[in-house]
Amino acid sequence: MSSTPPLAQLLLLGQGRDLLSERGVSCTGELPAASDPTLVARAEAAKAALGDRVLILGHHYQRDEVIQFADITGDSFKLAQAAAAQSSAEYIIFCGVHFMAESADILTGPHQKVILPDLAAGCSMADMATAAQVDQCWKDLEALGIASQTVPVTYMNSSAAIKSFTGAHGGTICTSSNAEKSLRWAFNKAEKVLFLPDQHLGRNTAVKDLGLSLDDCVVWNPWKPQGGLTAEEIRAAKMILWRGHCSVHGRFTRQSIDDFRTRIPEVKIIVHPECQHEVVTAADEVGSTERIIRVVSESAPGTQWAVGTELNLVGRLAADNPDKSVYFLDRTVCYCSTMNRIDLPHLVWALESLVSGQVVNEIKVDAETARYSKLALEQMLAL
Ligand code: 13P
Ligand code: SF4
Repeated sequence: MSSTPPLAQLLLLGQGRDLLSERGVSCTGELPAASDPTLVARAEAAKAALGDRVLILGHHYQRDEVIQFADITGDSFKLAQAAAAQSSAEYIIFCGVHFMAESADILTGPHQKVILPDLAAGCSMADMATAAQVDQCWKDLEALGIASQTVPVTYMNSSAAIKSFTGAHGGTICTSSNAEKSLRWAFNKAEKVLFLPDQHLGRNTAVKDLGLSLDDCVVWNPWKPQGGLTAEEIRAAKMILWRGHCSVHGRFTRQSIDDFRTRIPEVKIIVHPECQHEVVTAADEVGSTERIIRVVSESAPGTQWAVGTELNLVGRLAADNPDKSVYFLDRTVCYCSTMNRIDLPHLVWALESLVSGQVVNEIKVDAETARYSKLALEQMLAL
């Protein structure tokens, strides 16, 4: 008899599997070997052969071996802006994760193709909100007469289907660099916000930047009827936070901050807003990946920093700032495993395939989904 636990069975048989099969995770064809000593030269040659026809976008969490080939590096907001502003490149190779490539496809023209070098580069947080779950949540809010007073604000880290839901219901997308602006905009329109899918970014922004209290926030658990909340709790809440989180940023603890301050009293702590509320509250600075890089780079020589975000970024920040001491906030190694899926062999494979006239791993959002997602994304860019 199988000893598979009920939740694992559910994921194998239910929505978890649908999500992956819809997204697709296997790459076709032959990948070059990671040990091939000519990989860098091959990437350079293929990129040069494609010239202006290709633009490579690289998120800050990408590996060094990949980021060296990026034409533009940035946080998810800057990369979305770059994709929207870029109308000439025929191919945009997105070195990041699936939701970022989808957003780039939505924001670029029909003559442009967006490529994700490894289809398995997803985001576990984005997968924590499925379209069916979000639709059910909205139906529950409608049944309670609450939906008409609620605006959805959806973090960029979400599928195109959830972005489309957001656009169709008059909401906006946000990233970690404009969450405050987005929430202020939403509260000008309505009494309540349904914040998807990262509870931490929603809570941290509402409490730290907008001055709401923790009691103004409730957490909607999509696995429970009516989110596991009573009608009174939902009616009293200003922020309905989806029960999603980032497994990478969830590792940073208040204890690590206290330990650092004991060992190095002058250390400054900077963290990403996807961290837990008590971590964000205890930190000296909070910000998107782009802001973390800016704040540390612009600080005075000799400053010591402990940084709470993904390790590829922190490693580069330390290397680029030899006049400062930059430490990783967690005691253990903490890469984003899905961001790390994009490696040099996949990049070389994508580039060389384009040189030979074959477009691999194109990310294409269907027209109906793209229509409303675009509304929500453009609303964010207009803020
Ligand atoms: P940024 O928007 O700060 O780039 O963050 C994206 C992300 O996935 C953080 O985990
Ligand atoms: Fe998703 Fe977290 Fe990785 Fe960012 S760090 S892409 S939120 S899993």
